[in-house]
Amino acid sequence: MAKGSMTAVVTGASKGIGYELSRLLARDGYNLILIARSEELLGEVARELEAEFKIKAHVLAQDLSLAMAGDQLAERIAQLNLPIHILVNNAGIGCQGPFFKSNSVTNLEMILTNNVALTRLTQVLLPGLVANKGKILNTSSHAAFQPVPYLAVYAATKAYILSFSQALAEELKPKGVSVTALCPGVTDTAFIRRAGMQDTKAAQGNLISSRTVAEIGYRGMLRGKTVVVPGLKEKVMVVAGRVAPRRVVAKIAGNLMRD
Ligand SMILES: NC(=O)c1ccc[n+]([C@@H]2O[C@H](COP(=O)([O-])OP(=O)(O)OC[C@H]3O[C@@H](n4cnc5c(N)ncnc54)[C@H](OP(=O)(O)O)[C@@H]3O)[C@@H](O)[C@H]2O)c1
Repeated sequence: MAKGSMTAVVTGASKGIGYELSRLLARDGYNLILIARSEELLGEVARELEAEFKIKAHVLAQDLSLAMAGDQLAERIAQLNLPIHILVNNAGIGCQGPFFKSNSVTNLEMILTNNVALTRLTQVLLPGLVANKGKILNTSSHAAFQPVPYLAVYAATKAYILSFSQALAEELKPKGVSVTALCPGVTDTAFIRRAGMQDTKAAQGNLISSRTVAEIGYRGMLRGKTVVVPGLKEKVMVVAGRVAPRRVVAKIAGNLMRD
């Protein structure tokens, strides 16, 4: 099928990694369904990508932290009546700090956005993705590979995404659908400040750009890789984390993530 008649759904498309992934998809001729809360920003992204790449971009402003967000989106996407070939579950929020001081509403919103909406959206779009032998790209995190003190809930939500993606990749392989978990380390986006991570050791120094992360993730998705970890240092840390005792790895991660 010609790319011009193929559609990709991207959550968290208004900025950061999701914006860069949307650019790559548009460059390759995919029409887009762009999702985030900020309708104005999404509109700007849509206009920019339509003008630059001659594709069609639809904007669906949706808060993914609402319990029924996946179902609501499914209805709105169905109304567009477009064949979906790629689903990018990228929207996510984080929150740094000691768990005992954490805000329970924020924790709930994190689980709803990072996990519940991702799971439901995947489920409702799966029949179309199977029919089109499509691809799923889920943005997890380097935090998925070990417990992370002072980022406990976020790291757990990302471990969920990694596990879910790896399981689905196996289930869907015979159906011709690939599932990729993108696991970046700390990346230079608005996320760092929004998650309150700006003063942590992990967020200092030269950080990888959202463009580089998106390019590596996108390439991995096209190749049908199940897990993609951008950066050599990050890859080494994943391997080291597999052999070191989990308690030790958690301690190191906690030292990097506390203020
Ligand atoms: N930056 C990092 O260090 C890092 C590292 C590893 C993994 N990640 C993951 O990468 C993904 C993208 O993050 P980013 O770094 O690109 O951050 P970002 O620049 O803050 O972008 C996050 C995107 O998600 C959207 N979003 C957030 N909450 C939402 C909600 N409730 N409903 C709908 N959309 C929502 C945001 O748009 P609105 O605010 O307009 O809704 C925005 O488009 C996230 O899943 C994050 O966990 C980031």
